[in-house]
Amino acid sequence: MNTNAIAALFLLVVSGIIYAGTSSNDPSWTGNRNVCVGECYEAWKETHGGSIASVEQAKQEALAAASPEALGEGYYGQCVACHGANGEGGIGPTLAGQAASDITAKLTAYRAGEQRGAQSAMMWPVAKPMTDADINNLAAYISSL
Ligand code: HEC
Repeated sequence: MNTNAIAALFLLVVSGIIYAGTSSNDPSWTGNRNVCVGECYEAWKETHGGSIASVEQAKQEALAAASPEALGEGYYGQCVACHGANGEGGIGPTLAGQAASDITAKLTAYRAGEQRGAQSAMMWPVAKPMTDADINNLAAYISSL
């Protein structure tokens, strides 16, 4: 056999394999096994309570409407070193058990630079950047401790 004959035979065998392969493919296979369209997507919406976009939107709205308490809990991270993780006090006085209205009044006073106790100077820089919303959120969280 010369090389041309070998090459011809090789081509014949390869095209035979390709033909057999393509003609036995499942035409319903889209090429991506993870695709979820049509009925599959309808079922997904059923179990997740809406389309992908609406589920995502609901998540964002829930985040935006987070309770003052939850937002205050985030801010309280800055207070832990002096007032304790549970408001039990330390360098600063005990905050746990105080009413939200008391916390609001005290933080508002510190923000205004007012002297309350002997160590108010420690609270002035802490309270200075607080917005009214920050103070309300902190009061909501601290009064829950
Ligand atoms: C560097 C330490 C320090 C940090 C941080 C700190 N505090 Fe204070 N805090 C104090 C000290 C000290 C006092 C007492 C001040 C005084 O003598 O008036 C105080 C007082 C207070 C009071 C008044 C308590 C009372 O019953 O009289 C409140 C309310 C308060 N802090 C809230 C906070 C909050 C909320 C944060 C976090 C955003 C915070 N503090 C962060 C040290 C700190």
